[in-house]
Amino acid sequence: MTMVKKNDRVRRRPVVVHIAHPAPPVPPAEGSAMPDRLIITIDGPAGTGKSTVARALAHRLGLDFLDTGAMYRAAAAIAIDGELNIDDHEQLVNEIERRDLHFDFDTDPPTLLCCGESIMHRLRQDDVTKLVSPIAAIDKLRQEMVKKQRQIGVQHPRLVTEGRDQGSVVFPDADVKFFLYASPRVRAERRAKDEMAKGQPVLLEELERAIRERDERDSTRTVAPLTCPADAERIDTSHMSFDQVVDALAAHVSRVLGARFTRRPRARGAAVGGASGGGGGAGGGGIA
Ligand code: DC
Repeated sequence: MTMVKKNDRVRRRPVVVHIAHPAPPVPPAEGSAMPDRLIITIDGPAGTGKSTVARALAHRLGLDFLDTGAMYRAAAAIAIDGELNIDDHEQLVNEIERRDLHFDFDTDPPTLLCCGESIMHRLRQDDVTKLVSPIAAIDKLRQEMVKKQRQIGVQHPRLVTEGRDQGSVVFPDADVKFFLYASPRVRAERRAKDEMAKGQPVLLEELERAIRERDERDSTRTVAPLTCPADAERIDTSHMSFDQVVDALAAHVSRVLGARFTRRPRARGAAVGGASGGGGGAGGGGIA
């Protein structure tokens, strides 16, 4: 039986992905064709800056933001704090259900609540980070999380959602899908920078090895392995700044929506590239 103990907790704070605060939200242009439903998925391995990028993109496009890793992290925190047996999947899932995990979307970023109280302070603590990978590999738990995420997609149909399986499993019919990637070396360097900024000693080779191992585990697990969906836009962020990544994503969303809205109103015979035509910049396609 695998018990987790509260005193396994470690003090170190987690990786915070480099870079600046998101730009202020840009509302859709007056009279523009912002769709009622727009689901954008961002998947990829750890250390690619997905979460920060997803949040900034959501901000820029005026969409809601969903961090699904936070849900698995909260499950790990509940298991630790409740000293649950993580091999008893049924009990684990029931206990997590009992905690009524849900987001308060009135805050930015949305606050994840557990029994009505914020659990955000626990999510990036080391004991949680250590346990979350095996927790996220539990099929029964994933089924519940996927259900919750789809419900959120119904309640918040204008959403940027990030994780590992958002485009492949949870929202296979998403409007726009991204897969962010960066080489293990670059991701290790980013992490090392964050750790050093916190005064923590780091061994770059060690970090890189851990990242490779985690990638291997996440992409070979039997349940919802990390994969790049065939219809996702794959972006290698290794040599891009945060702003460049957000700009590239916004521009791609713009192109996709621009093409859609250009096609729709004048379906046949009309010239492509009218007023709503998909410009290359983040402002094209009516999403400003
Ligand atoms: O993105 P993150 O580091 O907060 O994710 C925490 C863990 O949850 C990580 O082990 C990957 C896993 N995860 C997952 O399996 N599926 C998701 N949709 C999101 C995260």
